[in-house]
Amino acid sequence: KKLIIINGPNLNLLGVREPEIYGNLSFTEFLDEISSKFKDVTIDYFQSNIEGELINKLHEVGFSYDGIILNAAAYTHTSVGIGDAVSGIKTPVVEVHISNTFSREDFRHQSYIAPHTKGVIVGFGLQSYELAIQSFIPS
Ligand code: DQA
Repeated sequence: KKLIIINGPNLNLLGVREPEIYGNLSFTEFLDEISSKFKDVTIDYFQSNIEGELINKLHEVGFSYDGIILNAAAYTHTSVGIGDAVSGIKTPVVEVHISNTFSREDFRHQSYIAPHTKGVIVGFGLQSYELAIQSFIPS
C-alpha cells in the first residue's frame, strides 16, 4: 500500500505551535514513529502553507496512490478549490484533524472538503492520523 499524508498551513509548526491544543511532538518525530509501526505500508509526506501547492500535490498523487490522509488545516474551512480537487481525483481521501474542531469556534465547524471524502477523523490528537492509516488497511 502506498499512502501519503498531506498537511496544510501552519502544521510545519507542530510541536511548537499552541502545544496545549496540538501537542509537543513535531511531525517528523511522529512520522518516524508511525513509519516503524506500519512497516507494510509506504507513507509519504507533504506539507505546504500554500493552497495551490496542496491542490497540485493532490493532482499528482490522486491517480496512483492507494490513499490520501489530508489535514488541510485552516483551508478546510475556506477552500472550495481543495474540495474540488478531492472530488476530481480517483484516490480516496480521509480528512483528519488533530483538535476537535467541533468543540472550537463556529468557523471551524464547516468543512469544504468533508463532503468529497471517504470519511473524517477529528479530535484524537496525532492519533487521528494513525486511525486514518488503519482505515486503509484491510483487517
Ligand atoms: C486543524 C484544525 C483547523 O481548524 C486549524 O485551522 C488547524 C489545524 C487540526 O488539525 O486540528 O490549523 O486542522
